[in-house]
Amino acid sequence: MTYRIAPSILSADFARLGEEVRSVLAAGADVIHFDVMDNHYVPNLTFGPMICEAVKPHALKDGKPAPIDVHLMVSPVDRIVPDFAKAGADIISFHPEASAHVDRTLGLIRESGCKAGLVLNPGTPLHYLDHVMDKLDLVLIMSVNPGFGGQKFIAEALNKLKAVRARIDAHKTKGGQDIWLEVDGGVKADNIRSIAQAGADTFVAGSAIFGQTDYKAVIDAMREEIARP
Ligand code: DX5
Ligand code: ZN
Repeated sequence: MTYRIAPSILSADFARLGEEVRSVLAAGADVIHFDVMDNHYVPNLTFGPMICEAVKPHALKDGKPAPIDVHLMVSPVDRIVPDFAKAGADIISFHPEASAHVDRTLGLIRESGCKAGLVLNPGTPLHYLDHVMDKLDLVLIMSVNPGFGGQKFIAEALNKLKAVRARIDAHKTKGGQDIWLEVDGGVKADNIRSIAQAGADTFVAGSAIFGQTDYKAVIDAMREEIARP
């Protein structure tokens, strides 16, 4: 299993965003998680494609581009997808409730040259994955309700992760493509082990990382917890 740490720059210092992205990748992060909020689908407002484009040249790990994982908490979805693709997004995920046509939006993301993901809120049923497994590169399980950093991990997300891990493994057994299983909200070094055991392979963490001065110490502690026998 390949495990990826994806810091959410929602909790970074926005006045020094490029530097924050470089620092967190130098500290051992694998992916940059980019939370887009529109004050409509969620009650908060963050950043759009122009900031993504500005951050892109800073998203380098050992001199190579690190993926920018754009988490769209916006409605409607389709209008903004090509803008993020042009701005350097590598992965674009969205909430099915926010799109009138989930299959079409997944197709649009891939046609734009990006990997496509579906995001399931704590109260969103898994049936949204039915019939679209072959169009997914990522499933993101929200372990908080979207809109804000620094919230408490909702334990029911562990059961959901186990159920989605079983679906992904069954899909791969039948010859299907690889699908990342990402978790977002309240992830910290002290709960990451149980989250990994539930089947997640990609871990978003905002306040846990950017709330500390030593990013490497947090990321190292997370990896040690995941690897602990
Ligand atoms: C919440 C965002 C998360 C958030 C995570 O709507 O999608 O990515 O930044 O923050 P923490 O890790 O602080 O819960
Ligand atoms: Zn997010």
